[in-house]
Amino acid sequence: MTADQLKAQVARAALDYVVDGAVIGVGTGSTVNHFIEALATVRHRIAGAVSSSEASTARLRGHGIEVVEAGQLERVPVYVDGADEIDGRGCMIKGGGAALTREKIVADLADRFVCIVDQSKLVGTLGRYPLPVEVIPMAVAQVARRFAEMGGRAAQRAGVVTDNGNAIVDVAGLSITEPLSMETEINQWPGVVTVGIFARHRAQVCLLGTSEGVRTLKF
Ligand code: 5RP
Repeated sequence: MTADQLKAQVARAALDYVVDGAVIGVGTGSTVNHFIEALATVRHRIAGAVSSSEASTARLRGHGIEVVEAGQLERVPVYVDGADEIDGRGCMIKGGGAALTREKIVADLADRFVCIVDQSKLVGTLGRYPLPVEVIPMAVAQVARRFAEMGGRAAQRAGVVTDNGNAIVDVAGLSITEPLSMETEINQWPGVVTVGIFARHRAQVCLLGTSEGVRTLKF
């Protein structure tokens, strides 16, 4: 099976977590694009979607799914999104698509985070994938120096401006053995909008695409 087939398989499996009559939280990325296609087949069953990016919003609307503003909602039952890495506790690195801030906002509204990934994303320790961080532009150099002090190599992602008008810094060389404390620390640094460690908002369920079928991990 190709990576794209594995993504399509887990995206279809995520339909089992869609709650009738509810607004569904929808993430961003190539795996989620498959989920949006699958969601369109049951759009009459849901009240709409809350989206984590301009790209997903356009795609949802293109499939005839109503998009509800996050500010109009208090809770949603489920948020479905991909990840760049996920560990055995459901902690993730996210932000490869530069949408991490809105992803964390929608994840915060959700009762349950369902992560959809192919098996290559499951790791023992987070950090092989360079950690994305959304940073206010004037703080990029300062934040990069702080990462250097902790052994990371930070580089601004070329040509990328987030939906919120900020920069993305990708940090290689980190071994994230304590995701929650590292997330908490980096989020305190001046100029950091959001760090792409999702430990406080970790997944409760991971649908893992394998060539033998979908494995469900519960955390
Ligand atoms: C976007 C994300 C994505 O969930 C992550 O990059 C995975 O994307 P894909 O499904 O394309 O592999 O965090 O900001």
